[in-house]
Amino acid sequence: MNAETTSPAQKIILDCDPGHDDAIAMLLAHGNPNLELLAVTTVAGNQTLEKVTTNARALARVGNITGIPFAAGASRPLVGPQLIPDEIHGESGLDGPELPAPGVPLEDTHAVNLIAQVIQDNEPGSVVIVPTGSLTNIALFARMYPELVERVGGVTLMGGGHHTGNMTPAAEFNILADPDAAAIVFEESWPVTMIGLDVTHQVLAVPDRMEQLKAIGTDVAQFIAELVEFFGASYMKERNYPGPPMHDPLAVAAVADPSVVRTIRAPIYVETQGAHARGQTIVDFRRTWSNNDPSGLGLVDDPEATSPNTSVAVDVDTDKFWDLLFDALRRIGDTNFKS
Ligand code: BDR
Ligand code: CA
Repeated sequence: MNAETTSPAQKIILDCDPGHDDAIAMLLAHGNPNLELLAVTTVAGNQTLEKVTTNARALARVGNITGIPFAAGASRPLVGPQLIPDEIHGESGLDGPELPAPGVPLEDTHAVNLIAQVIQDNEPGSVVIVPTGSLTNIALFARMYPELVERVGGVTLMGGGHHTGNMTPAAEFNILADPDAAAIVFEESWPVTMIGLDVTHQVLAVPDRMEQLKAIGTDVAQFIAELVEFFGASYMKERNYPGPPMHDPLAVAAVADPSVVRTIRAPIYVETQGAHARGQTIVDFRRTWSNNDPSGLGLVDDPEATSPNTSVAVDVDTDKFWDLLFDALRRIGDTNFKS
């Protein structure tokens, strides 16, 4: 949206698989004045590529997101079949509210080419990629356009965790959906920030937050409330959570305002084999560097040691997150997307 802060807005590409929380992430990215959403790309994940792409384009109509390109990407992981968590996101991938017709056209190019184009067209280091689905498109980008990797300002992704999984005891969905792609992304030279379950499970849309959301009183806030209702019922049924986690919006929020999370720089490995641990993200906390908290868990800070380019979020300021989301929705206002 329009930037009214003193520093220029951070440019981002959202690579997503909407998905209830992806939808909220997209609207947050659009409404936050510290962010400039340059492109939206989709990847198979919460539903088939066709469905999540249709959903993404419908969300553009909901949020009145215009003038930026949308492109579809990978329809399956690099290896193996697609996992579809329809017990969480339903048949459409975005069950709950009625969706409007798509609000933007689809580019006649693959998501990977669109990402390359955007990175090429902007100053080196000025664009952060925010993946909120599996990492297939981002791994393909790294392999197809290796010369552009160093121009990417960073990859701040929702996925993984250092303590728990959700699809298996060890693995989180976005990583398990394509562990081989994730391994490529974590091994690349760009800075990677992992916003994992350790922090997203602390940001639950519990009834009090829903009341605050509904009090905004716009058609977009009401749409999100309906999404959260369906998403919350899934999480209650499947996991007995008092509210659904705001996984994907937290990754966007962490770019909009890095102080929303506390991160630790540490090596992160993705398990691509393993009888029980395929898709696990393993954080080597034996060798850590503090990031935005100098008094944090910076255990080594060894000047001789090479600092890793991967960071993990270990703590979250939930009030700050909700303030950012509600502020973005107020700025978007009513879009009259139903008319
Ligand atoms: C992640 O999996 C998906 O179902 C959500 O959209 C989120 O990106 C959480 O594990
Ligand atoms: Ca997602």
